[in-house]
Amino acid sequence: MYQSKIIGTGFYVPDNIVTNDDLSKIMDTNDAWIQERTGIKERRWIKDGSGETTATMAAEASKNALKNANISKDDIDFIILATLSPDYYFPGGGVQIQDMLDMPTIGALDIRNQCSGFIYAMSVADQFIKTGMYKNILVIGSEYHSGGIDKTTRGRGISVLFGDGAGAVVVSRSDDDSGILSTHLHSEGKFADKLIMEGPSTKDWVPNIIARNNPDEETYFPHMDGQLVFKNAVVRFSEAINEGLEANNLTKEQIDMLVPHQANLRISQFIQKKFRLNDDQVFNNIMKYGNTTAASIPIALAEAVAQNKIKKGDLVVLAAFGSGFTWGSVIMRW
Ligand code: UT7
Repeated sequence: MYQSKIIGTGFYVPDNIVTNDDLSKIMDTNDAWIQERTGIKERRWIKDGSGETTATMAAEASKNALKNANISKDDIDFIILATLSPDYYFPGGGVQIQDMLDMPTIGALDIRNQCSGFIYAMSVADQFIKTGMYKNILVIGSEYHSGGIDKTTRGRGISVLFGDGAGAVVVSRSDDDSGILSTHLHSEGKFADKLIMEGPSTKDWVPNIIARNNPDEETYFPHMDGQLVFKNAVVRFSEAINEGLEANNLTKEQIDMLVPHQANLRISQFIQKKFRLNDDQVFNNIMKYGNTTAASIPIALAEAVAQNKIKKGDLVVLAAFGSGFTWGSVIMRW
């Protein structure tokens, strides 16, 4: 069995900054409410007509990760894209990355696990490297939320939270004892409807929605039971981190850097307090980007690396919770 490790990170966010004050001009919300409940100050939203999409952002983030890894696109054996907002219902977006980056005709896999998508994608990449099937895998999280959220007061409970962006890593066969120690994945489908976008779907095809022609139709906007999600998130985040530590006979005192999914700064702070970590041991950037779902961990990881907050030998923990419900963790020796 081989071990896998991240050899390069990169991210891309659209230029267009949308502040909380900008939002208060289009819906009944305000900077104080958003910052107090979520920590978010601003987010990036793709500008209408810019032509940017989940796939184009993913391609840009990937280019940055390849550069950072000092590896050629031709060395990549496999692509894994985690997203809940692919450009098309089908095909998935992984194939677009293959084409946009002019890569060889390698396999491309899409992962649909929402906020936990990047954790699931890392786990899949790790298994492929471990078995020796592939040597270099491009793992991406990319999301274009702003085009599909309800930007009116009706949708304010969701729309102020989400941002657009992409992050990517190159996962490769490790040539030393650093790398992924273990990954842990979970789901609990009985809560599927607590954070969901119901339509369009094969249960309710687009022609049905059009036929109803109901101006109050909400099924094609995301819906969330925020408080239930919050309560489950703090429990499951903790469980996933503890599970990873226990699996490797490690203690929370040994964590050098926790990069949690950026769902809400209050969730990150709760976890930080619970695990008695100081500010240097938890990386947050939700203040600048909002919740970018599958992209949030790779964006945060890329920023933490760029800011030299992670050094060789560090114990790095990634953890996420989100729609599904799904949750999980990755434990790595950097
Ligand atoms: O990444 C996926 C996982 N997602 C999460 O982990 C999110 C978890 N949940 C949360 O972070 C929080 O539940 C939210 C930040 C989404 C909401 O915070 P909350 O404290 O649970 O607020 P709430 O939904 O209970 O709403 C409280 C009040 C309501 O008004 P009333 O009924 O008390 O008069 C809402 O209508 O705040 C109102 N409200 C807003 N006010 C201003 C809801 N959204 C807004 C808004 N601006 N954007």
